[in-house]
Amino acid sequence: MEAKGKVTLNYGPDKNLDLPTYGGSIGPDVFDIRALYGKTGMFTYDPGFMSTASCQSRITYIDGDKGVLLYRGYPIEQLAVHCDFLEVCYLLLNGELPKKAEKEKFDWTVTRHTMVHEQLARLFQGFRRDSHPMAVMVGVVGALSAFYHDSLDINNPEHREISAFRLIAKLPTIVAMAYKYNMGQPFIYPKNDLGYTANFMRMMFAVPAEDYVVNDVLVRALDRIFILHADHEQNASTSTVRLAGSSGANPFACIAAGIACLWGPAHGGANEAALQMLMDIERDGGVAKVGEFIKKAKDKNSGVKLMGFGHRVYKNYDPRAKLMQETTREVLDALGLHNDPLLKLAMALEKIALEDEYFVSRKLYPNVDFYSGIVQRALGIPTSMFTCIFSLARTAGWIAQWNEMISDPEQKIGRPRQLYVGPTQRDVVPIAKRI
Ligand code: ACO
Repeated sequence: MEAKGKVTLNYGPDKNLDLPTYGGSIGPDVFDIRALYGKTGMFTYDPGFMSTASCQSRITYIDGDKGVLLYRGYPIEQLAVHCDFLEVCYLLLNGELPKKAEKEKFDWTVTRHTMVHEQLARLFQGFRRDSHPMAVMVGVVGALSAFYHDSLDINNPEHREISAFRLIAKLPTIVAMAYKYNMGQPFIYPKNDLGYTANFMRMMFAVPAEDYVVNDVLVRALDRIFILHADHEQNASTSTVRLAGSSGANPFACIAAGIACLWGPAHGGANEAALQMLMDIERDGGVAKVGEFIKKAKDKNSGVKLMGFGHRVYKNYDPRAKLMQETTREVLDALGLHNDPLLKLAMALEKIALEDEYFVSRKLYPNVDFYSGIVQRALGIPTSMFTCIFSLARTAGWIAQWNEMISDPEQKIGRPRQLYVGPTQRDVVPIAKRI
C-alpha cells in the first residue's frame, strides 16, 4: 500500500515520529501505527476499537452519518430489490455479482450441500430440549469440523471454497433442526427443488403429517431479512471470526465463535428486545401509552430505552430499517393483518421519536431491529429463534471476511496489548505465613 501522506506524532520534548497515512477508496483515512511500539515504547489505548481500523477490507462499507450501506460497492437498497440472498452470498464471496450461468452453478452447488451428516443429527439428542437454540447452534456448528475434515486445510483455496459452500448450505438445515428439536418435532430433510429460503421455511414449518405450502411473499420477505443481515463490516461477531481465524483455526470453529458473540444481547439480541418492548406497551394500553413510554425512554433514571432505536455507527436512518418497514407492510398485507396493532404502535412510536428533540439531537433513528421482530413474528418464527436467523444470514459475511483475512498477505495473528494496572512484581508468601 502506498502512503498518502504522514502525521507527525510528538511524544515528548524533541521526540517526533512520522506515521504514514493511507486512503481507502471511500471513508476516513488511517494512520499506520504499526511502528509505534518499536519506535516509542508506547501502545495506543482504544477499548471497544472506537478509532481502530483492524484490517483492510473490500467487502462492506458503511457511512453511518449518511445512512449508507454498500456490499462490494452496491447499495443495500438496490441489492434488496434486484437480488436474492444467494446472489448476495456470491457477491460477498467473489466480489462481483454473478452472471446467469454463474448464479445457476452457485445455486446448484449450495443446494447439493444442504444435507448434514446423519451422525450430526444424532448430536442434537445430547442437548436438553429446552436449551436456547443459540446454545445448540454454537455446539453444532462448532462440531461441523469434526464431520468435514476433508476441507479443513485453510491454506488450500479449494478447501476454503468447499467449507464456504458447506457453511452457507448447512446453516438453514441446522437452524431448522435446532427449532424442531426444541419443539419436539421430527427433523424435516431439505428438498432440493426449492430455493434456498423456501427450503429453509419448509424445514422450519412442515411436519410429516402435513406438508408446507410455500407462500412467495413470505419467502421473499425472509430472503430480504437474510440480505439485510448478510454483512456489516467489522462488527463484534465479524471481528471475533477474524480474530479466531487469525490463529489458523478452521472455518467451522471460527463461525461457531462468531455465533457465540452474536448471541449477546448488545449485538444479535436487540430485535427480540424491540419486539418485547412493543408487546409490553400494547399490553399496557397500546398507542394511547406511547407518549408516556417516550417520556420514560428519555429519563436516564428509568432504565428504559427505546429498543430498536440508535446505533453505534448509524447516526442517521439505518438504510436497512426503511427496507424492513416496507417488508413489514408486505408481509402483514399478505397475511391479511393490515390492522396489526404492533405495526400501528411501532409507527406511532417512530413518528413521535423522529419529531422529539431528545432523539433528534442525539441522532437516534430506527435501526434494522425496530421492524424485523414484527416481520419474523408474523412469519411464525418464535422470538428465541430470531438470533439464529441472524446467524444464518451473517454466515455469508463471516465466511467472506474470514476468506479475505486468510488471503491477505499482511495478515498476522491478532494479538492486542494492554495498559496494565494490576500489582507490580511482589514475592509469594507461603500459605502458612500469610496473615
Ligand atoms: N433510547 C433512549 N435513549 C438512547 C437510546 C435509546 N434507544 N440510544 C441511545 N440513547 C441515548 C443515550 O442515553 C445517550 O444519551 P446522553 O448523551 O444524554 O448520555 C445518547 O443517546 C448516546 O447513546 P450511546 O449509548 O452513547 O450511543 P452508542 O452509540 O454507544 O449506543 C446503542 C448505540 C447501544 C445501539 C444504543 O443506541 C442502544 O442501546 N439502542 C437500543 C438497543 C438497540 O436497538 N440495539 C440494536 C443495535 S442494531 C444491531 O445490533 C443490529
